[in-house]
Amino acid sequence: MNQTNAKKLIIKTFKNYGLNNQHATICANALINAELVGAHSHGLARLVSYCNRIKKKVINPKPQIKIKKISPSITHVDADNAVGFIGADLGIKHAIINAKKTGIGFVGVKNSGHFGLSGYYAEKAAHKGLIAFCFTNAPPAIAPHGAKKTLFGTNPICFAAPTGTKIPFVLDASISMINRGRIRRAAKLGEKIPVGVALDKNGNPTIDPKKALSGLQLPIATFKGSGFAWMVDILSGVITGANHSGKVRDPFDDFSGPQNIGHLFIVFKPGLFIKNYTKRIKENIKRVKKLPKIKGVEKILYPGENKAERYKKNLNKKINIPTKILNEIYSLNKS
Ligand SMILES: NC(=O)c1ccc[n+]([C@@H]2O[C@H](COP(=O)([O-])OP(=O)(O)OC[C@H]3O[C@@H](n4cnc5c(N)ncnc54)[C@H](O)[C@@H]3O)[C@@H](O)[C@H]2O)c1
Repeated sequence: MNQTNAKKLIIKTFKNYGLNNQHATICANALINAELVGAHSHGLARLVSYCNRIKKKVINPKPQIKIKKISPSITHVDADNAVGFIGADLGIKHAIINAKKTGIGFVGVKNSGHFGLSGYYAEKAAHKGLIAFCFTNAPPAIAPHGAKKTLFGTNPICFAAPTGTKIPFVLDASISMINRGRIRRAAKLGEKIPVGVALDKNGNPTIDPKKALSGLQLPIATFKGSGFAWMVDILSGVITGANHSGKVRDPFDDFSGPQNIGHLFIVFKPGLFIKNYTKRIKENIKRVKKLPKIKGVEKILYPGENKAERYKKNLNKKINIPTKILNEIYSLNKS
């Protein structure tokens, strides 16, 4: 399907489920971006879950969002259980405004939902010449180090910085070996998952996505990954007023209430301590890229470059939506 039609379909679907045009467009832009950067697990495959949650009244299609200015740098957003993209869009916008005015913008968002790809928000700041950290928590997927039970989400850590080129540095990584969306998509499409990323509920390694979803995902670098997940839970859950410590509900099978996910956006000017940021960052990247490469590696990439290349390649291509997912979306528009 071409991009314009895919975007129209998403907007129409969200509007059928009660969103206004502005909110539906914010959501559609985020989902299309995910497809373009090749993160299909966070693209159209997710639409059905947002609509199911609206239908079950655990996402609010008509949120009354409250924006509380705490100081010229600090803002607190209560997203009133809107689709996650909407609270996150406001969060990063306010963080950018505050940073431009004062040097730093610090924005917490509570009562939000799954906001898709952290990098999508961080790069908005980087494209405006600002450095950004974005954090969000997510439903239980990995066990804290030493525990038998899942509690932390795949809680991505995201950092973006301008590079003096069109492509910002965007390190955007979940703290799990692979992100949960990939496992869900594999389960939906009957595919296997890689070895070494998950255990079944009995603690045995599995490549079956369904067994992985009812078991546990493995964090990156054992206790270090678990520590990063905990840090993100504190930053996005504890301090924003959102759910934390395993209380974020699973978006796919827990309809007992809203997710109340939290996000934190920290945005600042790169030249707070120096005058020649662009020269310094270019020098920094150049030195890394000039290093001798190991066999099989053509060029050293900085984080974000691979996604930017995929985005450019896909920009004029049709979006490949698996028939199963497309049929699900069509049926959302029938009911
Ligand atoms: N909202 C949520 O609850 C949630 C939860 C988990 C993940 N996510 C999102 O899922 C997405 C995917 O996460 P992921 O952990 O699978 O990311 P990933 O493994 O695809 O990439 C992680 C990072 O490594 C970089 N990278 C990849 N290959 C590279 C290379 N060869 N050289 C240099 N850098 C390279 C990427 O640019 C990226 O910054 C992220 O956008 C994340 O925000 C969202």
